Amino acid sequence: MKLRGRTAVVTGGTRGLGRDVASALAGAGATVVVAAREVPDDPGEGIVALKADVTAPDSVAALMDTVHEQYGGPHIVVANAGVSRPGPVAALSVEHWSEVVDTNLHGVFNTVRAALPYVRETQGGRVITMSSLLGSRATPGAVAYCASKAAVEAFTSVAALELAADGLTVNCVAPGYIDSGMGRALIGNEALWPKFAETLAAGRPGTGDEVAQAVLFLASPESSYVNGQILHVDGGVR
Ligand SMILES: NC(=O)c1ccc[n+]([C@@H]2O[C@H](COP(=O)([O-])OP(=O)(O)OC[C@H]3O[C@@H](n4cnc5c(N)ncnc54)[C@H](OP(=O)(O)O)[C@@H]3O)[C@@H](O)[C@H]2O)c1
Repeated sequence: MKLRGRTAVVTGGTRGLGRDVASALAGAGATVVVAAREVPDDPGEGIVALKADVTAPDSVAALMDTVHEQYGGPHIVVANAGVSRPGPVAALSVEHWSEVVDTNLHGVFNTVRAALPYVRETQGGRVITMSSLLGSRATPGAVAYCASKAAVEAFTSVAALELAADGLTVNCVAPGYIDSGMGRALIGNEALWPKFAETLAAGRPGTGDEVAQAVLFLASPESSYVNGQILHVDGGVR
């Protein structure tokens, strides 16, 4: 119950990895609000779901205002919402490029920027962004996703330095191939998966909870002197 009395916002926390993260934070005693464009009737035990679109600055600002008024904080913000649109440079549509960059990069900026006035007011605020193994691993056919996640890592590094004096930390989790959310589709792709599977030093993909536990650490008091880090949760990838 180390997060009792803390309010956490998890964007994209309605399914996949975000839902795993929300469950772990709620299990540690936090009041958790998940936000997405579509919200489920049952977001999980101890979890509240609110509609928000991270690509729209006003939408995320309204979300943070509502969270502050109704639940306090937020003390913890997990900028997790993300999309993937495969395609090589030569064939990727402008629409798909824009959707990925708008969601994965602008969405992180919009979320963190909207949360900051409130997170700064709290003691020991936490900002956690979500990158990917692909943020540092050139992967043909995933140019928009790779570029957006590399930018999220740079954003995290700069924000951590800018905000440390305010007593908050900004860190990033970079999951590898995970059997949850969008990773599950890749694992289920019989044509593609064997090529990726042979790179896994651990010999298996990760679980959503293994990623969630890393986020939980970065959200917890125990990580108070960890700042600006990219925490790879991938079991080791060759
Ligand atoms: N699963 C993996 O193997 C893996 C590996 C590395 C990194 N990641 C990263 O982990 C994060 C979560 O991925 P996932 O696998 O859980 O994906 P997912 O199952 O597809 O879930 C994505 C979540 O983001 C939300 N979302 C998408 N666009 C949004 C928007 N404009 N505004 C608000 N919410 C939005 C979705 O809800 P709505 O569509 O209803 O809005 C959903 O809740 C992403 O940043 C992804 O890049 C995942």
